[in-house]
Amino acid sequence: MHAHQNDHILSFVLNKKTPAIVKAEGVYLYDERGNRIIDASGGAIVCSIGHGVQEIADAVATQMKKVAFVFRRAFHTPELEEAATKICETTNWDMDRVFFVSGGSEATETAVKLARKYHIDNGNPGKFRVISRWQSYHGSTMGAASWSGFTSRRADFTPYLKDFVHLPATFCYRCWYGRSPDSCDLECAAALENEILCLGPETVSAYIAEPVSGHSLAAASPPNEHFTRIREICDKYDVLMILDEVMSGVGRTGKWYAYQHHEVVPDIIVLAKGLSAGYFPVGATAVKAGIHDTIAGKSGVFGSGHTYGGNPLAAAVVCRVIDYLKEHNLIGRCAEMGDYLVEKLETLRSHPTVGDIRGKGLQRGVEFVKDKKTKAPLDPQLHFSQQIQDEALLRGVHIESSSGCDRGQAGDTIIFGPPFIITKDQIDEMIDILDQTISVVEKRVGF
Ligand SMILES: Cc1ncc(COP(=O)(O)O)c(C=O)c1O
Repeated sequence: MHAHQNDHILSFVLNKKTPAIVKAEGVYLYDERGNRIIDASGGAIVCSIGHGVQEIADAVATQMKKVAFVFRRAFHTPELEEAATKICETTNWDMDRVFFVSGGSEATETAVKLARKYHIDNGNPGKFRVISRWQSYHGSTMGAASWSGFTSRRADFTPYLKDFVHLPATFCYRCWYGRSPDSCDLECAAALENEILCLGPETVSAYIAEPVSGHSLAAASPPNEHFTRIREICDKYDVLMILDEVMSGVGRTGKWYAYQHHEVVPDIIVLAKGLSAGYFPVGATAVKAGIHDTIAGKSGVFGSGHTYGGNPLAAAVVCRVIDYLKEHNLIGRCAEMGDYLVEKLETLRSHPTVGDIRGKGLQRGVEFVKDKKTKAPLDPQLHFSQQIQDEALLRGVHIESSSGCDRGQAGDTIIFGPPFIITKDQIDEMIDILDQTISVVEKRVGF
């Protein structure tokens, strides 16, 4: 068979050929040469229910024949209302209204705009600033990149970005305050109050953060008390708390939403990825009733959104994915398999480069270091984690790698996000392959 070359696709890495995937089923991808690949990262931590689920394909086909498209300003569909209701239900009605978009970046932009609109309609039109964190990721559109703190993804486009404030990363393994979790006064949370005061509370609209980080910090998550303190500070200064659950939401951490591990409720949550499990491009911004009611009761208009937002096909997929997660108890399974994955990942600590293992549920990260004691990062020129990704693929595992967790300058990580249907045997196989892969790359770079 003629091998397809990606000769006309403009890719993320321009001079690299990626394999053509021609079939996907369960936790496996198959390339055109017939190689079977374990999808250890579920795409980009997207494919929660597994590949090739017939019910979802059928739901799209049925919806396409019924109503493929209507414009959200003039109409809605029963499926869209059903999808919104299902999302609110899974938050136990912490959230009451949902605005649909086509992906995560749009959803974080929507969250920030909704926060601004809320303050205007609540009589505080001076509130517009967004505070976020370094080494966070909220998307790649200009607004989302502005409040993202993922240094390498911002660097080339800095002239276009809005100059919002970034607080120190919430990253216990490399705490910016030199603390460890057992000797910590939550300085990273207190930093929010200082920043609000310096900027002037009357100018600050929202704080946005990931409860469990994505590629930028490879599944780092702050301790529970962190978000309790953040909630208190947000309440004190009338700053809306936005949690970006694009990666961690819809079951990935072993609960419907990562915020449910904490005793706080944010004002707005941002969803994408697992919301459609990869079967359709969709994102959503869900808000508490009070935010909606304030806007509805004053201006009554939220002038934002794109043509494809509220797409009936996306809505049909969201409904069936949520049903599927429930019917197959996949969120409980995610928690269970997450515990097993960690158990197996811990065995990799015997490698001289495995410095940290972190995360929740099936959102787990490994950080590689040059020296475990000092946590000195590997030389970025080695591209260590990229080598792990490339070598693992040759052996039949796709694992997403990243770099820059150490203040954007260094730090090699990989992030796991397999489908929740993964079995213990498949985890064993995946970890065996990774074990061999790490040995090969360590040897190559001189360990
Ligand atoms: C936490 C978080 N927010 C936002 C985004 C952006 O989502 P999208 O790539 O769908 O625009 C991502 C994507 O990786 C993410 O992980």
